[in-house]
Amino acid sequence: MIRLGTSKKELERAAELLARGELVAVPTETVYGLAGDAANAEAVRRIFAAKGRPADHPLIVHLPGSETMNDWAREVPESARRLARAFWPGPLTLILPKADHVADVVTGGQQTVGLRVPEHPVTLKLLKIFGRAVAAPSANRFGRISPTTADHVISEFKGRDTVAAVIDGGPCDIGVESTIVDCSGARPRVLRPGMIDLDQLSRVLGAAPILADEREGPRAPGRLPSHYAPETKLELVDAETLSTPDAHAAVLALDDTPNPGGFMAWQSLPKDPTAYARGLYAVLRRLDDLGAERILVQRPPEQSAWSAIRDRITRATN
Ligand code: TXA
Ligand code: MG
Repeated sequence: MIRLGTSKKELERAAELLARGELVAVPTETVYGLAGDAANAEAVRRIFAAKGRPADHPLIVHLPGSETMNDWAREVPESARRLARAFWPGPLTLILPKADHVADVVTGGQQTVGLRVPEHPVTLKLLKIFGRAVAAPSANRFGRISPTTADHVISEFKGRDTVAAVIDGGPCDIGVESTIVDCSGARPRVLRPGMIDLDQLSRVLGAAPILADEREGPRAPGRLPSHYAPETKLELVDAETLSTPDAHAAVLALDDTPNPGGFMAWQSLPKDPTAYARGLYAVLRRLDDLGAERILVQRPPEQSAWSAIRDRITRATN
């Protein structure tokens, strides 16, 4: 895998690779994506093979701009139009009835398609040069933590020649995957919480969306109870637990929680959800690499702004 910079020349090189059906990992504001030409079924199949992802898990199609939404969706309901206007480009994926030409391999055989316009200057520029949409799941092997730097992507796919290049756009600003809202039914449903939270969605929609039940709805790996998981066993704990040292445990605490010393490692993240999300996956990877018996994660706050973080951490404990 070659590492590309963000110059016009390098983005043109990346666009050529995509046009040939190769895979290119790209930065987005949420996490790095593993991109392939969304209109090339062979390229999309390569994405599944590279990730080791089951074929019935659909991919998100990343668009260069919201004006191309009608090329991929058969129908765009008012709710989706409003959400797109409010949040695109940005960390929101809309599930819509798919246009006829959208390949089954992209949608996992479903009648709906996931669409998003990412808010990253480099990838938007690449999409404009390429001139078409790319299908891109997070650029990690199936079931692993999403990458938020080019180095993470390289460590996921090193030694395999399945990914042609990664564009190094620096660390991702948001740090957790997009909020997914299904607008294909009678009422909008949140399939995956993200940093655009329920309050923000409700304000734009004029009513609260439904929170999807785990047991129903289409398959989505982000909704499997065990996902985004480090290899080390992870436990959610309260601050009191962290006052008793354990030399076999690595800790992810909130800033201000006193470190009594004696843990194998101690990392902390800010008590602000935006900053916490930005750092979360890099810290989990670092702690996972230590070979600790377990990772103790201090329980994050209960407010709505923390819901995406609580969701990812809870899934990682399973
Ligand atoms: O922030 C993000 O969304 C990142 C960046 C790269 O854009 N992408 C990402 O992709 O997280 P992935 O494939 O790791 O997760 C996409 C989620 C999956 O849970 C998938 O099942 C769901 O979106 N999804 C995609 N199309 C869908 C559809 N038609 N119906 C239901 N869920 C869908
Ligand atoms: Mg993923």
